[in-house]
Formats: sequence, structure tokens, C-alpha cells
Amino acid sequence: MNESLTTFVEELKKEINSYSISDDQSLEAYRIEFLGTKGKVKQAFGKMKDVPAEQKRDFGQMLNSVKQLAEDNYAAHKQALAAESGADDSVAIDLFAPSVEVKLGSRHPLQIVRNEIIEIFNKIGFVVEEGPEIEDDWHNFTALNIPFDHPARDMQDTFFVHKDPDWVLRTHTSNTQIRVMEKQEPPIRILAPGRVYRNETISARAHCLFHQVEGLFIDVDVSFSDLKQTLLYFAKSLYGDDTKIRLRPSYFPFTEPSAEMDVSCMICGGEGCNICKYTGWVEILGCGMVDPNVLENCNIDSTVYSGYAFGMGIERITMLKYQINDIRLFFENDQRFLSQFTD
Ligand code: PHE
Repeated sequence: MNESLTTFVEELKKEINSYSISDDQSLEAYRIEFLGTKGKVKQAFGKMKDVPAEQKRDFGQMLNSVKQLAEDNYAAHKQALAAESGADDSVAIDLFAPSVEVKLGSRHPLQIVRNEIIEIFNKIGFVVEEGPEIEDDWHNFTALNIPFDHPARDMQDTFFVHKDPDWVLRTHTSNTQIRVMEKQEPPIRILAPGRVYRNETISARAHCLFHQVEGLFIDVDVSFSDLKQTLLYFAKSLYGDDTKIRLRPSYFPFTEPSAEMDVSCMICGGEGCNICKYTGWVEILGCGMVDPNVLENCNIDSTVYSGYAFGMGIERITMLKYQINDIRLFFENDQRFLSQFTD
């Protein structure tokens, strides 16, 4: 091995070992001098190209050991300095300093509104039932009188978990109507809150996951006016005594007749604003008289019994209540959003 190369490496080692490191600044100066991109270790590797081929291997090994030495030396000093400052801190603990405030959690706005809806219907005898989120074709579609060629069955709207037999993520809470009617004889008076799923593009107004509350009432002699009075009571309880409702004819395969319910705008009181798009009304739910086919599908005699059903989106009702303009906020778990709601 060429003697001048050996001497060069020895000198560099000495320099590394004798460098005085006493604080963070000198540690950083050391790092730049030896380990930086233009540091002495890098420069030493630069000599490689001038070394005769038969010596490259040995010289390379020596350089690697210098690099290791420089890095180990850096790490050891860094650790020693950190330990020193840590020791200082422990002396400086102030036992009388006030503690950090413990933040209490708050209920999610969707949960607040869900509970409010349940409470309103509890008062008039509705009890909570829950149905599964993974559902078969019968309970999500067929028993609800949704024909095979109905657009709601289109792959675009429905998430399939399994094909043949079809299992889907339920697209609405109406599956729970069927589940309850199959196992319980009338009178039936239930409320079914829960998650539903639709294969929609996520935007400020739509999400692929959202929440609904379903209502179902089956008994003898139930009429459309019972439905209307129940919904009026609900709207007044939720948005205040001055609230008016109106029912517009609509279509759902599982109710006949069907309607959509608007309430007088809770923001402007019906005067017209951008929430109600200057109509004075906002739509909050779908409803109707349970189609006799649906009753028969559940072995309930439609010549004896009749009933009504309604379904509403909790996100929509919550957005109107708190004037929230982006549905995605509900699913982001941002503390700055969530902490604004109290019940
Ligand atoms: N299931 C309907 C929907 O998701 C709502 C609805 C429920 C309508 C019950 C009528 C009766 O849009």
C-alpha cells in the first residue's frame, strides 16, 4: 500500500478523534466538516480515482472505516449532549405549574340530531329497531316491491358484497321495515336509524356513506291523515311551533300513494333565502302509505291492515339545522368542526 495514502488516512482519523465537541454548535460544525456533502470524508473518497487499480480495494476499505469512525463519533457526542440537557430539564420541573387542560369530548352532530329525532318519536310510542348493514336482495329490494329493472338496482348506486346470491350494503334503512314485519305482528310502530351506502361520487352534497331514520306504523285503519299529523308533530318538535309542512306527490316502489315532505324554511321562515333557493320550502323526507304488495310479501293481510312509512336523511336535517354547507365535514373528524356542537 502506498505510504502516502496510509499516512493520509491516519491523519484524518486523528483529526476526527481530536475534534473538540462541547455543545450543539460545535457538533454541527463537526458534522459539516467531516460528514457534510463537501466534507473531508467525501473528499477522501474523491481520491479513489487517482489510486492505482491494484490498491483500490485496500484503500476503499480504509476509507469505509474512516467514514464509520466519523459517524460513530457524531452519534456518540449527539447522545451525550442530549443526555446532558435532559438531566438539566429534570432539575427544572416546576411542581406547582398548572396542569394542561383536559379536553372533554363532544357528541358528533349527527348523533345529536339522531337522538333528537328518536326522542321526538319515542314520545308518541315509536320504539327503535335496528337492521343489518349487509343485506340480501330480498330485504333491500324485492320485498320492497322494487322490480328487477328498477334503476336503484343499477351497479352505479349499489355496492355489492357478493353476487349470486346478491348481498349488498343496504342502500336505505327500508330493509328494516321488512325485517320487522316478517317477525312481528301488527300493531307495529318502529323507528330504524342507521348507516346506508350508495355508490355516489363524493361531493359537498353527496357521500357514499350516510345515515337515515326510517319510520313504520302498521295497524288497522291507518290513514294518510295519520301520517300527515304525525309528520306535522315531528316538524314542529324539530324546528319549532311555527313550522309548516307541505306534501308533494312523489314515487317510491314500496309506498302508494307516495309523497315528499317540505318544511317551511327554518332559516328565513318562508321569506326566501339561499338555503331554500328562494322558494320558502326545504325538502326533508320521503313517505307514503305502505304498498299492499309489501304487506303481503311479509305475510300481513293487506285487507285487514294498513300503514305508513317515512324515511329521512340525518345528514340533510343536520346540515339544515346548523347551516353546514359541506357533507364531507361529518366524516373528517376535524376537532375544530366537531367541538362546535353541544347537546
Ligand atoms: N327509502 C327511501 C329513500 O331512501 C325513503 C322512504 C322511506 C320513502 C319510507 C318512503 C317511505 O329515499
